[in-house]
Amino acid sequence: PGYVSTPSDASLNLDKVKLIELRARGRFGSVWKAQLVTDYVAVKIFPLQEKQSWMTEQEIYNLPQMSHDNVLRFIASEKRGENLNIELWLLTEFHENGSLYDYLKAHVLTWSQICKIAETVASGLAFLHDEIPPTSTLEAKPAVAHRDFKSKNVLLKSDLSACVADFGLALKFEPGKAPGETHGLVGTRRYMAPEVLEGAICFNRDAFLRIDMYACGLVLWELLTRCNAAEGPVGEYQLPFEAVQEVGQHPSLETMQEYVVNRKMRPLLHDHWKRHPGMASIASTIEECWDQDAEARLSAGCVQERIAALTRTLNS
Ligand code: ADE
Repeated sequence: PGYVSTPSDASLNLDKVKLIELRARGRFGSVWKAQLVTDYVAVKIFPLQEKQSWMTEQEIYNLPQMSHDNVLRFIASEKRGENLNIELWLLTEFHENGSLYDYLKAHVLTWSQICKIAETVASGLAFLHDEIPPTSTLEAKPAVAHRDFKSKNVLLKSDLSACVADFGLALKFEPGKAPGETHGLVGTRRYMAPEVLEGAICFNRDAFLRIDMYACGLVLWELLTRCNAAEGPVGEYQLPFEAVQEVGQHPSLETMQEYVVNRKMRPLLHDHWKRHPGMASIASTIEECWDQDAEARLSAGCVQERIAALTRTLNS
């Protein structure tokens, strides 16, 4: 879209933003569909006590070389109002399909849709995790860990390619610098890797990236649960570990620890998935993402490459 361009665009007059419809409510604020002149945009409004998430999210979007097809496009951020009425706004591109979570709840997916979503999810995460060297005009992009990766934080564009969103907890790793404040137990319990649930406190860059990959395994599992390619039933959408015999709707930390750390449980990979060669291959990729041993997990780049190769062999 023409009007909304760069974050530093001085012609961007945010007084012209009209909020249209509340689309999502989260821990860190609410997301609105809004109109800016002729374009729809998404406006995330943070409560004042979430100022740190708002700051972190802007900082991540404004890193050099941060634009990528599979990362949500940032438009602008602004502190609105004064004194007791301060609101913290973050404008991004708007995607009518909403989050992957919203979409999976409402739709069953074909094999080619699964492939596209899985590959673009991995591509967005691989880009985020990668360090990109400086160019003659641009500084290096540091590696970034997301730290709250889940299906609610992946958005689907109109062509069903994915983009990663929600960087309020993200951490950047600039070579030679200490990362920011890194207390361990952040993110969404349901998606926490065993080492996070265990309360390990000292993670380095690679350890943080592996924590994202555990969550990526759960998101890929969510995708397979809604795929109609194999012969066998496709049930109602459920979050990872949501099934009644598992941890239910609002698991406590203790419940998640017992399940994921002590009993080393993972969501069920159905037998009938293994009779479809492509789904079987994604199922083994998933197992290599959520391995108890963090060092054995696949990298995002490797997941992306595997799914790309799979798409080439099975769809050609
Ligand atoms: N929900 C959260 N962020 C969104 C966005 N940018 N577009 C559409 N729905 C969203």
